[in-house]
Amino acid sequence: MAKSATKKAKGPSADPNAGKTPLVEMKDISIAFGGIKAVDHASCDLYPGEVVGLLGHNGAGKSTLIKILSGAYPRDSGQIFVDGQEATVANPRDAKGYGIETIYQTLALADNVDAAANLYLGRELLTRWGTLDDAAMEAETRKVMGRLNPNFQRFKDPVKQLSGGQRQSVAIARAIHFNARILIMDEPTAALGPQETEQVGELIHQLKADGIGIFLISHDIHDVFDLADRVTVMKNGAIVGSARTEDVTKDEVLGMIILGKCPDGAIPGPGALAA
Ligand SMILES: Nc1ncnc2c1ncn2[C@@H]1O[C@H](COP(=O)(O)OP(=O)(O)OP(=O)(O)O)[C@@H](O)[C@H]1O
Ligand SMILES: [Mg+2]
Repeated sequence: MAKSATKKAKGPSADPNAGKTPLVEMKDISIAFGGIKAVDHASCDLYPGEVVGLLGHNGAGKSTLIKILSGAYPRDSGQIFVDGQEATVANPRDAKGYGIETIYQTLALADNVDAAANLYLGRELLTRWGTLDDAAMEAETRKVMGRLNPNFQRFKDPVKQLSGGQRQSVAIARAIHFNARILIMDEPTAALGPQETEQVGELIHQLKADGIGIFLISHDIHDVFDLADRVTVMKNGAIVGSARTEDVTKDEVLGMIILGKCPDGAIPGPGALAA
């Protein structure tokens, strides 16, 4: 990879986030299911306009960690900070209140209705006579989608007729329309073809430009390496380490995922193999 050839000094490079307050910080988070430590003293953070790839094998604890952030699971211990202030995230409603929105792999769209109906699902706009204000919802949806995915034109179609990438844009539009600042995407490209994956990549660039922070979860390093500013790797519930993608090679990140070996360019976590 060119990345390793151009890498100059050993060790982490100058931190462009130095002095900034993280959008979100998870500190020393643990949760056990029965005897299994699904997440074991894990810490990670995310800055505005940043994409952090959360990587690790199947069962490493990625989804469980983000479910704690999205309020889906209660944690056994640890703290969550939003904008530097400790946050109370006990349920999904709390998380949304902090601007934390999650897009699960299943997308959870209502297949039989169009994009606008999905955007406003459960929070429909009404006319002053109490009927659904379809015109207002469609106009607003066109605005949001125009910013996110200008090529999207299928406003009249039920979302089940859309491509995987288009469905993904509807799910993202729904999340950001209600003021998401922290977006969690769990395996967003797992079910997509190459072209649709590229489309999701473009969506992510657009969101970054708007200052939204994104946790991108994947067990596939190739999915995230080009999109992420940093990667955080988990193994057996613990953080192996975090690195700026420009400071490490794909092979080194694979070594983190598979062996738990933390390279020089990364900051080791409690799950790193002792050197
Ligand atoms: N609700 C649950 N009840 C019991 N065990 C669970 C539960 N959720 C997760 N686990 C266990 O916690 C561990 C971490 O699972 P998790 O789903 O977080 O992994 P993951 O890194 O997201 O994996 P994948 O790449 O397969 O999605 C696994 O051992 C899993 O079996
Ligand atoms: Mg998972």
